[in-house]
Amino acid sequence: MRFDVITLFPNLCEGYLGDSILKRAIDQKLISINFWQLRDFSDDAKHHKVDDTPYGGGAGMVIRPQPLWNAITEVKKHNQGPVIYLTPQGPVLTQKQAVELSTGPKELILLCGRYEGIDQRIRETLIDREISIGEYVLTGGELPALILIDTISRLIPGVVGDEESVAEDSFSKKLQGKREYPHYTRPAEFNNMKVPDVLLSGNHAEIEKWRTERLS
Ligand code: ADE
Repeated sequence: MRFDVITLFPNLCEGYLGDSILKRAIDQKLISINFWQLRDFSDDAKHHKVDDTPYGGGAGMVIRPQPLWNAITEVKKHNQGPVIYLTPQGPVLTQKQAVELSTGPKELILLCGRYEGIDQRIRETLIDREISIGEYVLTGGELPALILIDTISRLIPGVVGDEESVAEDSFSKKLQGKREYPHYTRPAEFNNMKVPDVLLSGNHAEIEKWRTERLS
């Protein structure tokens, strides 16, 4: 899976991808992630300005259409996937959508917003899909883009070592779309707190029943 991320803050993203499971996935070429600095596409040669005040007045700044147009058009030459704009104005991401995205086109372009958002004409012409990661507002789309990359990537075969554990995730089909049951590990007793007897019984049918009853 190839991700191309258009952002004003590529450095914010690179740290998260430089360690752990996603780093291994990149090293193994299961995923690739390219960053594009939106300022590089600004026609403002002096200050590389990308934002301006909103028509009609009001607080905050809006990202100008020109750098967005140039950036998205250039990135599209390298990535044929849909352009996804991360914005609190979009529908909220679910595990079901993450599964669909992980099995759909093998290329995605992610656009991170900042400030009050982007010029509406770009939303109407170059954006294929909008995604919010929740009903709250962040300072920009970089964390949401990382969250989207993370949740899609771990569904790609080989990225998480244990395929079985992904199949049994919260919200998976196997767990009837519900949240997972409680987990315990050794020791069987910790600070006077015991692991439920059924989990030590070795009776797989009973364990399954106990777990199913605890899905929420
Ligand atoms: N940018 C700012 N807040 C956001 C959110 N909740 N989801 C996606 N992008 C955002």
